[in-house]
Amino acid sequence: MQSVTTQKIGNILVIVVNNPPVNALSWHVRQGLSDGVDQGLNDPEIEAMVLRCDGNTFIAGADITEFGKPPQGPDFNQVLRTIESATQPVVGAIHGTALGGGLETALVCHYRIAVPSAKLGVPEVKLGLLPGAGGTQRLPRIVGVEAAATMCSLGEPVSASKAASMGLVDRIAGEGSLAEDAIAYAKELIAVGPRATRDLPVKGDTAIIEQLKAANARKWKGFEAPYANLACVEAATKLPFDEGMAFERAEFMKLMGGSQSAAQRHMFFAERQAAKIDGLPKDLPLRTVNKVGVIGAGTMGGGISMNFLAKGIPVTIVEMVQENLDRGVGVIRKNYEASAAKGRFTTEQVEGMMALLTPSLTLESLADCDLVIEAVYENMDVKKEVFGKLDAICKPGAILASNTSYLNVDEIAAATSRPQDVLGMHFFSPANVMKLLEVVRGEKTAPDVLATAMAIGKKIGKVAVVAGVCHGFIGNRMLSTRQQPAMQLLLEGATPEQIDKVHTDFGMPMGPFQMSDLAGLDIGWHRDPSRVETIRDALCAAGRFGQKNGKGFYDYDAKRVGTPSAEALAIIEEFRATSNLPKREISEQEIIERTLYPMVNEGYKILEEGKAQRASDIDVVWIYGYGWPIYRGGPMFWGDLEGAGKIVEALERHGVAVAESLKAKA
Ligand code: 3HC
Repeated sequence: MQSVTTQKIGNILVIVVNNPPVNALSWHVRQGLSDGVDQGLNDPEIEAMVLRCDGNTFIAGADITEFGKPPQGPDFNQVLRTIESATQPVVGAIHGTALGGGLETALVCHYRIAVPSAKLGVPEVKLGLLPGAGGTQRLPRIVGVEAAATMCSLGEPVSASKAASMGLVDRIAGEGSLAEDAIAYAKELIAVGPRATRDLPVKGDTAIIEQLKAANARKWKGFEAPYANLACVEAATKLPFDEGMAFERAEFMKLMGGSQSAAQRHMFFAERQAAKIDGLPKDLPLRTVNKVGVIGAGTMGGGISMNFLAKGIPVTIVEMVQENLDRGVGVIRKNYEASAAKGRFTTEQVEGMMALLTPSLTLESLADCDLVIEAVYENMDVKKEVFGKLDAICKPGAILASNTSYLNVDEIAAATSRPQDVLGMHFFSPANVMKLLEVVRGEKTAPDVLATAMAIGKKIGKVAVVAGVCHGFIGNRMLSTRQQPAMQLLLEGATPEQIDKVHTDFGMPMGPFQMSDLAGLDIGWHRDPSRVETIRDALCAAGRFGQKNGKGFYDYDAKRVGTPSAEALAIIEEFRATSNLPKREISEQEIIERTLYPMVNEGYKILEEGKAQRASDIDVVWIYGYGWPIYRGGPMFWGDLEGAGKIVEALERHGVAVAESLKAKA
């Protein structure tokens, strides 16, 4: 099948791209476009051309799978120049999404027509790139500097109506009649003639560039691409078109050759790959989930419920005590109202979501739920009791899920007579915000139960990853290999601030001790102040429980902003002195070797044991569950960049047992 075909309709040449699934600009599409336009240019009967796509969408961008490979086929910029220089008017006819190179193709068409549901954007920044085929130079000539800078640096698409108001779309077509409407438009344009975008003046003011930098300083910390995008848009205001293009090209090549874009492109595919379950057919029939039950109205249970309510799925939420139930429901309402105040929901939407919530004090009210998620206290006996009861109450075929973060899902499943219907659905706090969902596959979990849980995860906007049963699954198991050596480093003379800074400089949202303070130092504490066996015991004994009471490894102000604590440091020092370890200077490199390398090592062990399906799933867990910086591509991708040899040498030097598969790679 040819990926680009042409059709002569009277004096109009229609060029049609058909390259499923998303009409990406693979080399044969570029070739086809070039040939198609040449055909139009060389045919004296042709007075205008239409460029449109078959399938679900207009061109969704460059073919990302070609990046980093030897170039093949015609140069994209050359193809675009040919279209822009056409002597007959060319109309781009847009449906679905015109993204990246797709929008750049539309920008060299002399006029654009789109259906109302179309979306247009330059999302390259999300791949660590910039629109490298004239997007940063042509957009400011069409929509002005303000809109161009915003679109390029944030990467968010705009709707067809917004695009029309910006001048990015010249005409809105009927939703079902794009092909005909585009031809009719092309006929009208014969009298008007072509209009090359490159010849238009750049409109607008560059003040927006500094405003965007200031407004996004936090979000863009560590990222190169947003700044490169802005530099290119700025160049468009200062340089003639061809020089601007040369500037854009140089910036694009820099990003393309760098590790950030490689990491972000890796994550694009990793995220899509994570949804796939090895060994299961893609079309496996799923169980129906129309009604969800959540046990526990605390922070986790409430946050979990919010995901379903927001997608219009009714939730019955169960607590044991009226007061706790009321408090939980109140928190859900408060959170929705806070979002409404920020314009994310209307008041009617908030009321609609709340109307879908049924508070209850009895597990019996879960009898008709299709999926029940337990989010009670993290204790095996409690969980077993709950699942035993659910087994008696729930209808046959209902999926019974535990939100446990560490416990053995097989043991929980064994408390029921239907272990095939049981699995883990591990959400991350705050559960209505964090995108990660670890779906824990038990030994006996039925394939359709697993596939349904993965699909429901996607439906509620999560990135779901399959994990096997082991202590802490993928994420928390790796987390503990970071937290333990971090504590040990305190005994050897490092400070919490020093270690945390290495992690935040790396790009993590917080370091090991900031995270401990957030979670609460008293979690798992034996509550006996006279028993001081660890630094955490010593801090708890002194009443330092973390952010919740304003003091932990750090001191916190009313807004929960932490500063180094002289008292905590003194407690640490006092405890340290009892360890008899000599105090020494700890380098940044040693902190990396002892807290980050073990995570990579643990990732390899997880893979060896089959507890994750693939290395990229582990990267997804760390990026969406723990805020690992996406521009470093997750621990496994980063480990490859660091080099297995270097990591193995350091781990062995520090006395860590190295995974066989990591050794084999070194
Ligand atoms: N290149 C290669 N493959 C792509 C692709 C692309 N640009 N975009 C999507 N795909 C693949 C996906 O990997 C997926 O493959 P799989 O089925 O094997 O997993 C398949 O197409 C379908 O993709 P989605 O699952 O994402 O489908 P959706 O319907 O949910 O979303 C989409 C469609 C909105 C187009 C989304 O795929 C998307 O955002 N794609 C990327 C768009 C983009 O970033 N474009 C810019 C590319 S860079 C560029 O153009 C550089 C230029 O300036 C020079």
